[in-house]
Amino acid sequence: MNPETMTVALGDRSYDIFFGREIYSLFQEWICRFYPGGTVHVVTDRNVASIYGDDIQRWLAGIPHDVLALPPGEEHKNFDTVREIYGFLARGDAGRDSLVVAFGGGVVGDLAGFAAATYLRGISCIQVPTTLLSQVDSSVGGKTGFNLPEGKNLVGAFHQPRAVFIDDAFLLTLDDRNLRAGMAEVVKCALAGDAELWDRLLAVGGKWKALSGEEWRWVVRRAVGFKASVVERDERETSLRRILNLGHTIGHAMEKSGGYGRLLHGEAVAMGLAWEAILGMKLGVTGEELVDGLVSLLIGMGFPLDDPGVALTSIAAAIGMDKKRMVSDVDLPLVAAPGRCELRRVPLAEIRRELPGIRAEIRERSIARELNIPAGNAVPEESPVSNLVHVGDEVYEIRPVEENVAPAVPAEAGPEIGKEQATAVEPESEQAPSEIRAAPAVRTVTLADLYWSQGEHSTARRIVGEILRDDPANLRAQAWLAARAGDDLVEADLLAFLETMAKEYGYDLS
Ligand code: GLY
Repeated sequence: MNPETMTVALGDRSYDIFFGREIYSLFQEWICRFYPGGTVHVVTDRNVASIYGDDIQRWLAGIPHDVLALPPGEEHKNFDTVREIYGFLARGDAGRDSLVVAFGGGVVGDLAGFAAATYLRGISCIQVPTTLLSQVDSSVGGKTGFNLPEGKNLVGAFHQPRAVFIDDAFLLTLDDRNLRAGMAEVVKCALAGDAELWDRLLAVGGKWKALSGEEWRWVVRRAVGFKASVVERDERETSLRRILNLGHTIGHAMEKSGGYGRLLHGEAVAMGLAWEAILGMKLGVTGEELVDGLVSLLIGMGFPLDDPGVALTSIAAAIGMDKKRMVSDVDLPLVAAPGRCELRRVPLAEIRRELPGIRAEIRERSIARELNIPAGNAVPEESPVSNLVHVGDEVYEIRPVEENVAPAVPAEAGPEIGKEQATAVEPESEQAPSEIRAAPAVRTVTLADLYWSQGEHSTARRIVGEILRDDPANLRAQAWLAARAGDDLVEADLLAFLETMAKEYGYDLS
């Protein structure tokens, strides 16, 4: 297959991006042509080396090279690791005409790129990104750097690569979680600047993992093409390039307040995209239909859209603190239409103020989407949390704490709903009506799935356990439990979850 090429036009810093499957012979040809004779200095990490050791050898076959495998992970994206790369280059006699090859994901690319930008006042670097996230985002555009204890990416340099080799063969062996995380940046690119890509993603929906090689290359090329066009117009992020931060203002805050390492960057970006779309709706920029499509798409792709373990106060505190600078407002990219983004200066205080309403909407819309409720049914305008949530043909109630009323059967509810509510009441809750019940009144495997996807594993298990208690022959519930038999049990306590909800919204979820 002939690789496809895209040029990032930046004057004397212009470079080509090559796309294709198994394009290592092209890589070798490129190196032999532009860097003949010298040793190539390959920087990777131990995870990549253990998974792609053979690939690295295949890619570098016939080329004199040495390899440095860094400790993997965001926690090693620091100056100690940069020094390790400097030492590696010095020991390898790297000169001004040497070439660094960053072979790995975003952390490797940022660190190797930064070392190349600064060693001997700058040597050449090429990028071979092995994750979807690094293919569609970090390998292109020249941002390099590392974290300080005080904040992410506080030290860095713009240093454009000499070439980027994007090989979709790496995606075949990428684990699901990392592949999905990369899709968040693809969705970002579609929303911010490529309506055709957006339509394609909507059409593919939850079946994105089954894309053919050709379709993958198309999706990746479109995302990269959008990014490259932005970089060409604003290499140093003085204005337009800020639209690439779509979803990142709240996304970074979620990533940071949950503790780095808990969420992958792309997972936090997916949450940020959804939360910021709802903010955009509240600010009158983003339409409801687009928000519905986005929430539906992200959930269909398997992203949780909330991290229930993270308090809103932490998210609020982390917003705008990325660079350890306290600013009063941000240029927030907001989506006006698919593929069309606008930057709007928004006071941080306003974003923080909207957070409770945004989280409530996210939860409502997630439930509505999972259970196939048309948009609007579950989210009454007057309240961030509706009193009655219709779940298929079942209903449950969210009521103010102080009311402490008996579980409600809505007057307009049909007899089946009433029956469901009546049978759902636990004996314990009759004895202690002011206490929060052990599980939501509605118990369906789909609802359990939703709780599971939001990290509420103990609640999900309890729901399925209760379904099986009432109906031991329920095959779906049995299969659900069996599928999670080996899963790590994160016993997020139901009471703690409900108390958090109660505290955050002044409501009691029954
Ligand atoms: N990842 C955003 C940018 O490169 O500007």
